[in-house]
Amino acid sequence: MIFNKADKVLREIEKAAEAQNKPGNVALPIIGREKGTVLENIIKEAKPDAVLEIGTLVGYSAILMAKNMKKGKIVTIEFNSRNFEAAKLNIERAGFRDKIEVMNGDALKIVPNLEDEFDMVFIDAEKKDYFKYLKAAEPKTTKNATVVADNAKRFANDMKDFLDYVRNSGNYRSELRDFGADGVEVSRRIR
Ligand SMILES: C[S@@+](CC[C@H](N)C(=O)[O-])C[C@H]1O[C@@H](n2cnc3c(N)ncnc32)[C@H](O)[C@@H]1O
Repeated sequence: MIFNKADKVLREIEKAAEAQNKPGNVALPIIGREKGTVLENIIKEAKPDAVLEIGTLVGYSAILMAKNMKKGKIVTIEFNSRNFEAAKLNIERAGFRDKIEVMNGDALKIVPNLEDEFDMVFIDAEKKDYFKYLKAAEPKTTKNATVVADNAKRFANDMKDFLDYVRNSGNYRSELRDFGADGVEVSRRIR
């Protein structure tokens, strides 16, 4: 099978994650292929112009989204400097230097100062801070923006305030995409 540059990098990261995600090792917690289909389908259907990602790790999910975006841009924020450097390299190798802007720092400090307006937000960083990330991002999102949150089943207790808000505030139409052991919350802003 012939892979393009982005697919090659994605497969490499998947292999590294598979090798690393064993007891006793430091995990490489990428969204992975199965849950990643949620991101791919939203990108294909909603065709966002500007995506904000909170939690880059080594660039897997950003590359997966960029690969499915015909136009538009991704801004992704990573706290850890080593992950940031690895992500920059992977993004360059995937051919998305112009499509993905990687920023190094704490999303809670960076997001309030962003000037762009986003029609999709992907939250995948510290689980207990999801509500804070969303509140920081909300003033920067369009009226019908889509918010995607990984680990909404496995870490549902840690992100209870976030899930209560997107499900019950009336500001979003929200549903869990259930993948058995884990799930992805997809919330469409309705006001
Ligand atoms: C689960 S990983 C992200 C996985 C990535 N989205 C993917 O699917 O390939 C979470 C990342 O969020 C980063 N992180 C944690 N808190 C953060 C913060 N406040 N701002 C930015 N990044 C943060 C961590 O350093 C880690 O690399």
